[in-house]
Amino acid sequence: MKNKHLGFGFSTRAIHHGYDPKDHHGALVPPIYLSATFAFPTAEYGAACFAGEASGHFYTRISNPTLALLESRMAALENGEAAVAFSSGMGAIAATFWTLLRPGDEIIVSQTLYGCTFALLHGIGEFGIKVRHVDLTDLAALQTALGPATRMIYCETPANPTLRLVDIAAVARLAHQQSNVTVVVDNTYCTPYLQRPLELGADVVVHSATKYLSGHGDITAGIAVSSHAIAQRIRLQGLKDLTGAVMSPQDAALLMRGLKTLALRMDRHCSNAQAVAEALQAHPAVQWVTYPGLASFPQYELAARQMKQSGGMIAFELKGGIDTGRRFMNALKLFTRAVSLGDAESLAQHPASMTHSTYTPEERAQHGISEGLVRLSVGLEDVADLLADVQQALGKCARAVARPTLLAAHAVK
Ligand SMILES: Cc1ncc(COP(=O)(O)O)c(C=O)c1O
Repeated sequence: MKNKHLGFGFSTRAIHHGYDPKDHHGALVPPIYLSATFAFPTAEYGAACFAGEASGHFYTRISNPTLALLESRMAALENGEAAVAFSSGMGAIAATFWTLLRPGDEIIVSQTLYGCTFALLHGIGEFGIKVRHVDLTDLAALQTALGPATRMIYCETPANPTLRLVDIAAVARLAHQQSNVTVVVDNTYCTPYLQRPLELGADVVVHSATKYLSGHGDITAGIAVSSHAIAQRIRLQGLKDLTGAVMSPQDAALLMRGLKTLALRMDRHCSNAQAVAEALQAHPAVQWVTYPGLASFPQYELAARQMKQSGGMIAFELKGGIDTGRRFMNALKLFTRAVSLGDAESLAQHPASMTHSTYTPEERAQHGISEGLVRLSVGLEDVADLLADVQQALGKCARAVARPTLLAAHAVK
């Protein structure tokens, strides 16, 4: 009865999966179980819960009915067997690393990652885990890097902030030639509506659910989705003992509310971002623009194969680098200058001084993050208003870039 929506389409599962009002006094919206602890009918039953011999809820850091509903819904959307909810994306990533890696193990990670994930890797390096950054678009380089100590391959695709893609199926095929390598994909930029890494051969999907999944910028949350066996290990080690990064039941309810409109929102994020990316590409003040939906995108064919649509994130650089980039950001009137992504509001930020300031300038250069890169998270506003805002801000930059050139020309004369 609980899983009667498994055969349904994406949005139907996002709205209904795992819940029947009949079991909850007819309540259309699932109740929120705030309780931190749960009563045992007998001492013996409590002992059986702790021994893993009874399946009831007994303490919210380990499981809770509201979290369990969210987890089963996320597993159904990612096409995984089970999911574990966390208080943040970093909680989900840290718990996955701490559960699946031990001193002496090696983790191969893709070239560019979100700044705090990059910092976490520095941290785990201090505990005797060897971290190797490899360009995962180069399968020969991956083949060379894989060794007997490799236990995990970790990537974001598209990567934050460069939008470089990793061919998940090709990487998983290579990785699984060895029996004990786990492929973990951060699917934050896409959500399962646009890309399902487990179907392509990955073993674990992690999310910052702070972003598109919740979609309204009012919670921090994380999710890991995998097989039952891996999820159980992540829950009992990474969540329960090693991080304690449990999601609150109220946040789970907000996240489930967000999931109900995920498909609608992603369609709009994608169409708005496509229009903004095309406008940027056509403007003379723009040096380069990266967006998976542009024919100029270097991995356009892979994007079309691996992602249902091109997403809501854009990276670009203006002529004149970061000085002009700052002028552009300060000229924006509708886009908000803020980090994070996936909200209804369009956001603009400068990774080198904000989300990716955890890299040194030399590391940013090595990992392909240019100092002048500006990142846009294109929101759900009317596209005409977004385009007008970008055009007026670009207009100010074009004048600013043109002026020194003219002055220089006069000076020569
Ligand atoms: C791709 C990606 N992964 C993980 C995270 C971390 O998520 P959280 O901020 O929810 O901890 C972020 C945050 O920006 C992100 O962009």
